[in-house]
Amino acid sequence: MTKKLLLCILCLILCSFYGCSKKETNNKILIAYFSCFDDTKTLAQMIQKETNGTLFEILPLETYKEEDFTNTTSSRIWIEQNDVKCRPIIQNTLNDINDYETIYLGFPIWLNQTPKIIYTFLESYDFKNQTIFPFCSSQSNDTSYSLNELQSQFRNLHIREGKIFYSPLQEEIKKWITSKEEENKVEQIYITIQETKLTMTLEHNQATEELIKKLPITVMVDDYGGFEKVGSLGFNLPTSNQNITTSYGDVVLYNGNQIVLFYGSNQWSYTRLGKIQNRSANELKEIFSSGKISITLSLD
Ligand SMILES: Cc1cc2nc3c(=O)[nH]c(=O)nc-3n(C[C@H](O)[C@H](O)[C@H](O)COP(=O)(O)O)c2cc1C
Repeated sequence: MTKKLLLCILCLILCSFYGCSKKETNNKILIAYFSCFDDTKTLAQMIQKETNGTLFEILPLETYKEEDFTNTTSSRIWIEQNDVKCRPIIQNTLNDINDYETIYLGFPIWLNQTPKIIYTFLESYDFKNQTIFPFCSSQSNDTSYSLNELQSQFRNLHIREGKIFYSPLQEEIKKWITSKEEENKVEQIYITIQETKLTMTLEHNQATEELIKKLPITVMVDDYGGFEKVGSLGFNLPTSNQNITTSYGDVVLYNGNQIVLFYGSNQWSYTRLGKIQNRSANELKEIFSSGKISITLSLD
């Protein structure tokens, strides 16, 4: 009897230990990757270990064969990578992209470019609500490939700063994931004008990614056109300009280095930075008062 009781207790302890140590899958994170020689696959598995996200291997309908990789202008890879319109077909599909908030997107560098199948993947779903972090495997740590290629090709998506890995270690992956998680946490910043503190929700783009690294900053802004306050940041931020009609509360980047805060409306080519919350047009007009004023942007 005592033996049975002891066995039961031991089982309970083992079960609860196993239950605690086995982390649950984090359904909000997707790790999608394309890999031919398993380097990117290994990277994806290392990221999975840190995030507990869901792994998804992007599989080409027509598998790449040994001869496709030959170093000639007639090889499949060379032809695909030199054809701007090429979109290799993917054989498998994701069920519901809206299940995910963050996507780690992995691929090898091919001929200093992103494999065209990654273009197929990004064009196959509506990723406008997801934050995408690219990660690449490369043969050399001296590569001239730049992840800006993806950001400039998919300006409508939230593609953040990615990383190229050359012989990665789990510790390096862990550090990268932690920095990305920290970045993701910043949803709002504050704008202080004398005694008034305004909350601004952030757009997620490269400009805000760089901006938050520089905070706190103080900027002198002045009136322009009777609808905005504008001032020089004193540094450049990456632009993703679009022709937009602004409304009161909008905060945008103009010309790559000027911050514009609207209490009225204007139509121009800007990069969105964010929006001031819960203030009417009149309130903002009053807060911004007339003439040159000093504003401080901060994280808290
Ligand atoms: C056709 C081809 C072109 C490549 N071009 C480059 C390149 O331009 N720069 C680079 O650093 N590595 C290049 N590589 C190396 C791969 O990026 C690297 O081996 C990668 O780790 C392979 O990833 P995978 O095992 O996930 O397929 C190339 C590899 C192949 C097959």
